[in-house]
Amino acid sequence: MTAPAIRARGLTKRFGRQVAVDGLAFEVPTGSVFGFLGPNGSGKTTTIRMLLALARPTGGEVELLGERMPRASASVLPRVGALVEGPAFSPFLTGRANLSRLDAADPRSVSATRRARVAVALERVGLTHAADKRAHAYSLGMKQRLGLAGALLRPRDLLVLDEPSNGLDPQGTREVRSLIRRLADEGATVFVSSHLLTEIEQLCSHVGVMRAGRLVASGSLDELRAGGGREAVVSTPDAGAAATTLRRLGLAPAVLDGRVTAALPAQTTPESIVAALVADGVRVRGFAVSSPSLEERFVQLTGEGFDVAG
Ligand SMILES: Nc1ncnc2c1ncn2[C@@H]1O[C@H](COP(=O)(O)OP(=O)(O)OP(=O)(O)O)[C@@H](O)[C@H]1O
Ligand SMILES: [Mg+2]
Repeated sequence: MTAPAIRARGLTKRFGRQVAVDGLAFEVPTGSVFGFLGPNGSGKTTTIRMLLALARPTGGEVELLGERMPRASASVLPRVGALVEGPAFSPFLTGRANLSRLDAADPRSVSATRRARVAVALERVGLTHAADKRAHAYSLGMKQRLGLAGALLRPRDLLVLDEPSNGLDPQGTREVRSLIRRLADEGATVFVSSHLLTEIEQLCSHVGVMRAGRLVASGSLDELRAGGGREAVVSTPDAGAAATTLRRLGLAPAVLDGRVTAALPAQTTPESIVAALVADGVRVRGFAVSSPSLEERFVQLTGEGFDVAG
C-alpha cells in the first residue's frame, strides 16, 4: 500500500488566543485531486503553510509523501510544487528572469537546459507573451500565473496550490483548471484550496471542508453528497394524517404549505412510505425523494451565509 500523499493528525495552529486551525486530521490519497474548501478566514492558508513547513504547528503532525515533516523537508520538498498566497518575486526582474533565478536556486537543476525549462513553464501557464515584462508591471492574475510556473519548473509528485485561480479572469480560471487536470493526468497528486464550490466540484475527486479552523467533512465528492441525506416530500390535502403516518414509521415530519417533509433514514425505502400513506387513506398527490445539491450541502457544513471567522 502506498502511503497517502499527505497525512495530517491533530494539526493545530494558535495565534495568541485564537485557534486558527483546530486539530485537523485528514489524508490525501495518492493520485487524487483534493479540494480544500472553506470560506475566508477558515484556516486554509494557515494549514497549507504548515503542510509545507513554512509555519510551525502549535500541535500535531504532518507527513508528506510518506515522510515526517519538517524533519524530511530537504528530501521531500523538492518533489512538491507549491503556490502559496503572495508568491515572492523580484519586482525589478522580468517574469522570465524571475523563473531563471528560481530555477538556478535549485541545486539539482542543470543550467544548460534552464532556458528551455523556463520557456516551457511560461508556456504552460500562458505567460509567454508577457515573459519579458518586469514583474512589478504584472496584474494579480499574471503574478498568480508566474507563481504557478515556478511550481512547475520540475516534475512534481505533489502540488499544493493555495487558491490558484485567485485574481484570474474566467478564461484564466478555465486555463488553470485544465492545467491542473493535465498535471493530475500526468500522475501528480494535487491539493488545491478554494472558497469556490463550483471550482472544486469541476476539478476534484476528493474534498475537505473547513469551517472556522475545523475540518467539518472530508472524503470523496460522492461521500460528501451522500452525507447530506435524503428527504421525502409528500404533497397532500391530508397533511395532518400524513404526518401521523410518517411518525408511526419512525420519521420526524414537518408540515409546510400542504407539503409534508421528513429526513429519510437509510433503511427506509420510499415505496414503503407511499404504501403506508395509501393504506392509511391519505390522498397522495405527489411524492418525491430529494438529495441536497452539493451547494446546499456546503452551506449546511460551513454555516449559513459567509461570515468571516475571527
Ligand atoms: N500570522 C498570523 N497572525 C495572526 N493571525 C493570523 C495569522 N495568519 C492567519 N491568521 C488568522 O487565522 C485565521 C485563518 O486565516 P487563513 O489565512 O488561514 O484563512 P484562509 O482560509 O486562507 O482565508 P482566505 O480564504 O481569506 O484566504 C484568520 O482568522 C486569520 O486572521
Ligand atoms: Mg487563504
